[in-house]
Amino acid sequence: MLGNFGYCNPTRLYFGDNSLKYLNRELKKYGPNILLTYGGGSIKKNGIYDEILQALEMNDKNVIELPGVMSNPTVHKLYEGCALAKEHDIDLILAVGGGSVCDYAKALSVSARCEEDPWDRYYIRQERPNNEIIPVGCILTMVGTGSEMNGGSVITHPEQKLKIGHVFGDDVMPKFSILNPTYTLTVPRYQMVAGFFDIMSHILEQYLSGEDDNTTDYIAEGLMKSLIHSTRIAAKNPEDYEARSNIMWTATWALNTLLSRGKTTDWEVHMIGQAVGAVTDATHGMTLAAVSLPYYRFILKDGLAKFRRFAVNVWDVDPTGKSDEAVAKAGLKALEGWMKEIGVVMHLRELGVEESMYDAIADGTFLLKGGYRQLSREDVIEILKQSM
Ligand code: NZQ
Ligand code: ZN
Repeated sequence: MLGNFGYCNPTRLYFGDNSLKYLNRELKKYGPNILLTYGGGSIKKNGIYDEILQALEMNDKNVIELPGVMSNPTVHKLYEGCALAKEHDIDLILAVGGGSVCDYAKALSVSARCEEDPWDRYYIRQERPNNEIIPVGCILTMVGTGSEMNGGSVITHPEQKLKIGHVFGDDVMPKFSILNPTYTLTVPRYQMVAGFFDIMSHILEQYLSGEDDNTTDYIAEGLMKSLIHSTRIAAKNPEDYEARSNIMWTATWALNTLLSRGKTTDWEVHMIGQAVGAVTDATHGMTLAAVSLPYYRFILKDGLAKFRRFAVNVWDVDPTGKSDEAVAKAGLKALEGWMKEIGVVMHLRELGVEESMYDAIADGTFLLKGGYRQLSREDVIEILKQSM
């Protein structure tokens, strides 16, 4: 049965190769002080920075720049942003980049005017904001996380070896996001493919949980089919606008709260992947790719009916004359084939994981209840071993 739910997504999207022109419309809604935050410099190389600065100047904005947001943004970078935001009366945080920059902007939006240590309040204690929140707008340059239309914000504490997400509410979600697929064409192949797998993982985390008959799972199957189709094209020809634009749209829908409506969700792959990321600083999507198949093989018998459905409905596995388990396994085999085809990392060793790290990774893995089987610490270590 489809469970009861509320649904609201307040983020206004502008999609397409002309979407930056709508920045003018959005900028008019905010005061003069814009905190422009971005990553390590890709936007300066590909010209996006110049286009945005021109729009900000045309709208008579004071631009306060906050560059250098790293992949897997750290709490120290967050403190730096808080100090800068306190010096200026910021009206809008404009994030230009991938999930890391968008996540960072949301963390800053709730932290800049927070009286407490934001790491303790939002990430360790998972409390809601009780202070003024600075509005955020995003201009997305890398596809995968869905951060452009959700309240998620993942921050890493390198010394504590913890990478933790907080899913904030409607009041923290971006007020607007500009999605121009041409901006993503300069993303290096490794990051592009990691993003492809991140999208698949977001859909699977929500799909592979529960056995109810509900519309949400049919939407998930449609998104996966589109993703598989378009990523096969984009892996061969990354310049293919049709494929890249479809992937961008799929990524947004994969994690903008739609696919979790009325059903349970798993998220254990992300918990293990984030713990790997906290210890290695590896690329997010690749951490998920390395642990997914061992995890799914580990829980296959507990969620057999759904794994069978995944095989038949998503991968067109012919079930005739086969046991449910054989069909389910054929689905995972097809998933493995697609992963190899697009070229994701298949083993944790490739990400710098060593056996001596197992304890730290297991300690940093949150054990959730929404999947087909609740893992123990020993189970996590077993999955890590099988992911090497
Ligand atoms: O920093 P620059 O120089 O901009 O380079 C970036 C970065 O090195 C580069 N890049 C981005 N756009 C580019 C480009 N290079 C050339 N041309 C462009 N147009 O790509 C690299 C990766 O960027 P990053 O933002 O780190 O990647 P991604 O979008 O995968 O974000 C990863 C972060 O998002 C979190 C992850 O944990 C990780 O910290 N997540 C956020 C989620 C959410 N908000 O819901 C959910 C996800 O599961 C995920 O956990
Ligand atoms: Zn993810």
